[in-house]
Amino acid sequence: MSQMKQFDNIPSTPGKFKMEKSSPYIHRLRWHSSLVKLTFWSFVFLGMILMFLYKSPPSTSSSSSTPDPSRRSLWTPSWGGPAWEKRVRSSARVRSRNGLCVLVTGAAGFVGTHVSAALKRRGDGVLGIDNFNDYYDVSLKRARQALLERTGVFIVEGDINDQALISKLFEVVAFTHVMHLAAQAGVRYAMQNPSSYVHSNIAGFVSLLEVCKSANPQPAIVWASSSSVYGLNTKVPFSEKDRTDQPASLYAATKKAGEEIAHTYNHIYGLSLTGLRFFTVYGPWGRPDMAYFFFTRDMLKGKPIPIFEGPNHGTVARDFTYIDDIVKGCLGALDTAEKSTGSGGKKKGPAQLRVFNLGNTSPVPVSELVSILERLLKVKAKRTVLKMPRNGDVQFTHANISYAQSEFGYKPTTDLQTGLKKFVRWYLSYYSGGKKSAQ
Ligand SMILES: NC(=O)c1ccc[n+]([C@@H]2O[C@H](COP(=O)([O-])OP(=O)(O)OC[C@H]3O[C@@H](n4cnc5c(N)ncnc54)[C@H](O)[C@@H]3O)[C@@H](O)[C@H]2O)c1
Repeated sequence: MSQMKQFDNIPSTPGKFKMEKSSPYIHRLRWHSSLVKLTFWSFVFLGMILMFLYKSPPSTSSSSSTPDPSRRSLWTPSWGGPAWEKRVRSSARVRSRNGLCVLVTGAAGFVGTHVSAALKRRGDGVLGIDNFNDYYDVSLKRARQALLERTGVFIVEGDINDQALISKLFEVVAFTHVMHLAAQAGVRYAMQNPSSYVHSNIAGFVSLLEVCKSANPQPAIVWASSSSVYGLNTKVPFSEKDRTDQPASLYAATKKAGEEIAHTYNHIYGLSLTGLRFFTVYGPWGRPDMAYFFFTRDMLKGKPIPIFEGPNHGTVARDFTYIDDIVKGCLGALDTAEKSTGSGGKKKGPAQLRVFNLGNTSPVPVSELVSILERLLKVKAKRTVLKMPRNGDVQFTHANISYAQSEFGYKPTTDLQTGLKKFVRWYLSYYSGGKKSAQ
């Protein structure tokens, strides 16, 4: 009988005990099992807290004064920690005498990659930041990142709206300059995704300037505006003195807003600001959403390409500017940028505020661009002539560059034929053998 009782106490299911309710042994066991449960759940809870802390960026003194409104940092890739800071410092280390220490935003972009590489080559310290958005083929941005990594440039993955991250970067490195190239580019995409323009070109710019104005010392800022600010009714060649209050697209309007915002931060906080109005930049590692790039892709695939014409069969032409000339302009603007005058968010005196055209000064009809590509690719294009849609593009661009010429000796030297030859060579080798396909 007693043996039976012992067997009765052996659970039929592991973990379950058959016991008499009133036994003191039962109380002890219940108490014991509650303690085990409590300990177990405490560990789970502690684990969750640790995971949360690990995923969140470290809070900084500057970030607490400039909270990140979007709280993106909770779900963007993590940053921070000694190893990360070491990479940031090493990338930004200046290696030449009197070299600059530059934060390049949009560093995985077309212009950002070329400017970062050029700065690094001459011994400046360079740190990149980019959010690797999927506006166009992300693998191309990743390939540019790999290219820069080989030259010692680290691109931090993050959004310029993340003030906690940008503040942290300024805490780790005393940047002397910011080359701000991160933006939502492209004119037509604004009809599909207007808020991306507001996010990157307006909110993002303000967010960056907020951190710069509070940085100690304040950096000098050079940023990309666009020839599109000239809008619909400007006579060519476009001069910086022309009115720019009739933007033809949301993209242009956000770039124009950037110029006004720059004026405000210069006026109130003494930030040194230089805007560069780029004119249709092209070249190796270019942007797949631009005509010269997708014409090349579609011509090689035997697909028809649209060629727009203005009213009364008017020619559509662009002042195509080769990337190396744009890079020289960016470096010239950085080298002649004066120091910001404020500190700790307070203006101490008047600061430099400039806007320059960076173009090529020789517009080429788009039909001529196609003819050059035909010769270089040895392919006959299937041209479809269409009326230019009213989606924000202008018919003609032509830069007057005399101001940039006088201030920092800007002088473009690459004609379209020469520049496209270099682009086509790159394109064929990058997409060779069908290893990668142009999207
Ligand atoms: N390429 C041209 O012909 C041209 C002409 C006029 C003006 N611009 C201006 O020059 C600059 C560079 O242009 P690009 O041709 O190299 O364009 P791009 O799209 O190749 O580069 C921009 C980069 O910024 C990044 N980015 C966008 N929003 C961001 C954000 N919120 N936070 C962090 N990164 C962000 C993108 O991922 C991209 O890599 C842009 O400001 C553009 O408007 C270019």
